[in-house]
Amino acid sequence: MHEQLVLFGATGDLAAGQVVPALANLLRDRLLPANFRIHAVGKTRFESDAAFHQWLSERIARRAGDACDADALRELLARTTYTSVDLSQPETLAATLKVDPRGGVLSYLAVPPDLFVPIAQGLKLAGLLEEPSRLMLEKPIGSDLASARAINAAIAACVPEARVFRLDHYLGKATVQNLLALRFGNTLLEAVWSRRWIERVDLLVAETAGVDGREQYYSRYGALRDMVQNHMLQMLCLIAMEPPAAMDADTVRDQKLMVLRALRPFTTAMAPGESVRGVYQAGVVGAQPVGGFNQLEGQSVETFVALRAHIDNWRWAGVPFNLVHGKRLATRSTQIVVTFKPVSHWLFEKPNRQQAAPNRLLVRLQPEENIELQLMSSLAGPEWGAMELQSLPLNLSVAPTRRRRIAYERLFLDALNGRHALFVRDDEVEAAWKWIDSIADAWRGADCALQPYPAGSWGPQTAMPFLPSAISGVAHAKGSA
Ligand code: BG6
Repeated sequence: MHEQLVLFGATGDLAAGQVVPALANLLRDRLLPANFRIHAVGKTRFESDAAFHQWLSERIARRAGDACDADALRELLARTTYTSVDLSQPETLAATLKVDPRGGVLSYLAVPPDLFVPIAQGLKLAGLLEEPSRLMLEKPIGSDLASARAINAAIAACVPEARVFRLDHYLGKATVQNLLALRFGNTLLEAVWSRRWIERVDLLVAETAGVDGREQYYSRYGALRDMVQNHMLQMLCLIAMEPPAAMDADTVRDQKLMVLRALRPFTTAMAPGESVRGVYQAGVVGAQPVGGFNQLEGQSVETFVALRAHIDNWRWAGVPFNLVHGKRLATRSTQIVVTFKPVSHWLFEKPNRQQAAPNRLLVRLQPEENIELQLMSSLAGPEWGAMELQSLPLNLSVAPTRRRRIAYERLFLDALNGRHALFVRDDEVEAAWKWIDSIADAWRGADCALQPYPAGSWGPQTAMPFLPSAISGVAHAKGSA
């Protein structure tokens, strides 16, 4: 296990909100090596390491609150030094970093993607990418296929793919990993997991938070590039991929890649019917009035996206995968809904065939975690003179016995140990961008306008058919944008 972490972007939001708290938790649980140390690197200047520690502690208290153990954080900071340097200059970086490469170093880049290459070049010059050192990159890798290819090629010139770890924090979530267990640990599900039995699949990531404070980044990306290109497509892959022959990193990643390559590219003709772009306006979220999204001048990115994806292969031909993500929606919820086809021959009067609820598998990933199977069951009612069926949710939730780990905890442990399975390979990133580019191009070609929605709603009215039916039903009853 590597003992040294070089943390680039140490003064950024992610470091304070997720990364340092995750490392403090690992240290508290004695899961890090005894001599673990952090070389924090950023642009901002601090008078001393102590001044950086003080600044970061205050920031973490504001951002992560109770999620970060105070004693463990103090111990972690005692093992942390800080270096300020211009990250865009490889030579300066190499000359400034004082890190001993012996034993191997994990360098983690939580910085905008245009800094990946100069930092990797600086690390190479400093001897910090020699075997067995590793490089871990935060998302996003570029902003389209061309930039992602350029980054991957330049990184490959500095360090081989076998020592590159592209992080997608959704893959570190226990609930996302559970999708593999659910699919491949149960005969029952795998037997019905295809176009023959499944009518549609819905994947929803709804957030109540807005863009607040991240306008600079977000205005270059928007919801499609910020969430769909990475987190949502990774989930889609786990739902749709063929069973891998083994769970080793490349076997699993080969199967995910096949799904990404089978995604039907968007065209100008299909974009208006198969997608919706929205942007939030002022509204009320959780009883609090909130403002609308402030576009940066000259930009017009979406904060809401709904897509009907098609996977053109034997297993999934004809099954729509509805992907919906938005900021400032009515509630925070990440869920997957698999809707099965109606039974082939309906025998019952009550309800009649049209009113029968289809079988559904609902996997809630956050904030609550549970699995629900919606079945039809008989309501014994002799007074009716006929068997009456009603829909019965079978709740499969298990009370978690242990505290759930922050996704970053799992991913840092894996990267420090050199385990690749939960990281994204270069070709996966490129295949995902290729599909995302087809959507962005189709939106441009078809002139798909941004549709406003009030904060606290379920998005633009035109997006209702893309939402899981339980949600679109509620949204419809309340009347949405
Ligand atoms: C990040 C996106 O990668 O994921 C954010 O940049 C988004 O815009 C976040 O809010 C969502 O992560 P989680 O774990 O809170 O669902």
